[in-house]
Amino acid sequence: MSRDSFGSRMGALLAMAGSAVGLGNLWRFPYLVGENGGAAFIIIYIILSFMICLPIFISEFVIGRRSQKNAYAAFRDLSGGSAWRWIGLFTIIVPLIVLSYYSVIGGWSIEYLLKSFTFSFSGEESQSVMNTMFTSFVSSTWAPLLAHTGFLLVTTLIVMIGIKDGIEKFSKVMMPLLFFIVIAIAVYSVTLPGAKAGLDYLFTPDFSKIDAKACAAALGQAFFSLSLGFGTIMTYASYVDKKENIMTQSTATAASDLMFALIAGVAIMPAVFAFGINPQAGPGLVFETLPYVFGQMPAGGVVAILFFIALLVAALTSSISMLEVAVAYLVEEKNFSRTMACIVLFIFCWVVGAVCSLSFGPLSDVRISGGNLFDFFDNLSSNILMTLGSLFTVLFVGWRLKKTDVYDEFTNGGDISRNAKLFGVLWFLIRYICPVAIIVIFVTGLI
Ligand code: ALA
Repeated sequence: MSRDSFGSRMGALLAMAGSAVGLGNLWRFPYLVGENGGAAFIIIYIILSFMICLPIFISEFVIGRRSQKNAYAAFRDLSGGSAWRWIGLFTIIVPLIVLSYYSVIGGWSIEYLLKSFTFSFSGEESQSVMNTMFTSFVSSTWAPLLAHTGFLLVTTLIVMIGIKDGIEKFSKVMMPLLFFIVIAIAVYSVTLPGAKAGLDYLFTPDFSKIDAKACAAALGQAFFSLSLGFGTIMTYASYVDKKENIMTQSTATAASDLMFALIAGVAIMPAVFAFGINPQAGPGLVFETLPYVFGQMPAGGVVAILFFIALLVAALTSSISMLEVAVAYLVEEKNFSRTMACIVLFIFCWVVGAVCSLSFGPLSDVRISGGNLFDFFDNLSSNILMTLGSLFTVLFVGWRLKKTDVYDEFTNGGDISRNAKLFGVLWFLIRYICPVAIIVIFVTGLI
């Protein structure tokens, strides 16, 4: 049976950008920037994104496209059947964990989209009403479970259709829409009176805030945002045509992810500051602060609808990439039909996600290192597992694969002369700089 693949360059690019652009850009990036020194943090983030994360991205691309296999088989075959295949298995399990809790938040965005259609965020409500609305929703049993089910079901159905007809078509329609909506909100947001304070919060550089913790936060965010270290880029790359230019595709994805994060910041923070509010971190920013802001601003009902559509789309284009990693594995290694693989993985992610969802309500007493189960899965995967996955990936490409094979894949057999010129720098970054930087930043961030 021939393997499904992306049908066009643009389709592959938009699917990869879709995997990268997600909740991480909309709810984590703007807040992290403001908290960690504004433009100073952005500069660190850009340096780390292009010096550390881009080589990792390219490494994943090389592994996936060279093998044209799922992540497990890619590590197994490229290493001649050695124990490296267990790293492949690791990169298949991590996205399933991420997808499980990601789907819970995806569900919340469905709920909030429905709320915005019924204009639930009216100007009369105070912020504490919005906080109570959110807390009582997430701590209830059935409503968030139902929303989680809906989100995971849509994710599963898109993946079930396949690469070209499901994932690619969805991304091709939704990614331009997503960019359009966020740009429109950003333009509106900066025209609000008092918006400048939000721009200052984002862009005034404060280098005194740049320390090891800020660097670790920037690196962790860049991993999460670029979907690194958990098999997704590798898997998508395995569906990319051999003629495509790895450097161009990788740089374009990293650049669009960065641009989207910055535009999201400009869409969110000026509006928040225009109404004199202090931004919160994480879900609180999106589901408590913003609904209140939407209630205050002119035409806020429409902005709310657009924003939650964007949030949902961003989440979906990322979640489908996470599911595809394990689907490819079950189909190619365990002879599952695509439909059966999707059903089995749906059940797995539903159960783990349900536990995460209930950890805000009936299971809130279950605590691990001070947080609930949702926090535990989030911290474990974004702070530890993705970092380890990225470290293993660069070690594999830099120290296990043959240099000539990496060169061959990166330059399309020597045909792309620009890549051939860049290869020396890339190879040095992959072999030495990336592993050392990941370890140093990871360890100092923990202390
Ligand atoms: N890259 C995805 C995001 O940023 C996981 O949400």
